[in-house]
Amino acid sequence: MELLKNKIRDDGIVLSENVLKVDSFLNHQMDPELMKEIGKEFAGRFRDEPVTKVLTIESSGIGPGIMTALYLGVPLIFARKKKSLTLTEDLLTAPVYSFTKQEQYEIAVSAKFLDSDDHILVIDDFLANGQAAIGLINVIKEAEAKLAGVGIVIEKGFQEGGSILRERGVRVESLAILESLENNQIVFSEKEVNINE
Ligand code: G4P
Repeated sequence: MELLKNKIRDDGIVLSENVLKVDSFLNHQMDPELMKEIGKEFAGRFRDEPVTKVLTIESSGIGPGIMTALYLGVPLIFARKKKSLTLTEDLLTAPVYSFTKQEQYEIAVSAKFLDSDDHILVIDDFLANGQAAIGLINVIKEAEAKLAGVGIVIEKGFQEGGSILRERGVRVESLAILESLENNQIVFSEKEVNINE
């Protein structure tokens, strides 16, 4: 997605060989026009799947997730990372280990929003080690719902999340794949096409 790549080139800041700061348009301040185009792009890519709901994780997945849901005409659910006062009914939960933060947390979705007839599209802002996506997939399994695929705004191709998911047969669509952040340079990978296609 050229618009996204240009935004990353213009406004992304390489913090280290592993971390790209995109807080001016993606995960702190958000660019609504860009989110709209991201939503349209994901909706187009997954139009052939019978998606009934989009599932993401708070907080930075919500922007791209809601725009994708809007273009697909389905609801968005976001998994919570912290216990909520109003999250009192039956919960579907999964542990997620964050390598970045070196801590484990539990994600939770109210069981009433997912059932076995659902085809769920997972959307998230970053794919690094894949632990958040795997946690969301485990929640979908717990609900006995079907996984339509995973849509990622920025995949860090030099970390293992993408290959773990694809090796499991998951359809992963990433709008930009970073091949490397070495020497302060943002290098994109050209293999954006899903290997299962
Ligand atoms: P994983 O789920 O793929 O295993 O990823 P990891 O634990 O490494 O990532 C944890 C958090 O760090 C996630 O956000 C993820 O979006 C973010 N993250 C990972 N790599 C980068 C990066 O290169 N740049 C930026 N800006 N963020 C990155 P989170 O802490 O859960 O926060 P949020 O969704 O509430 O914003």
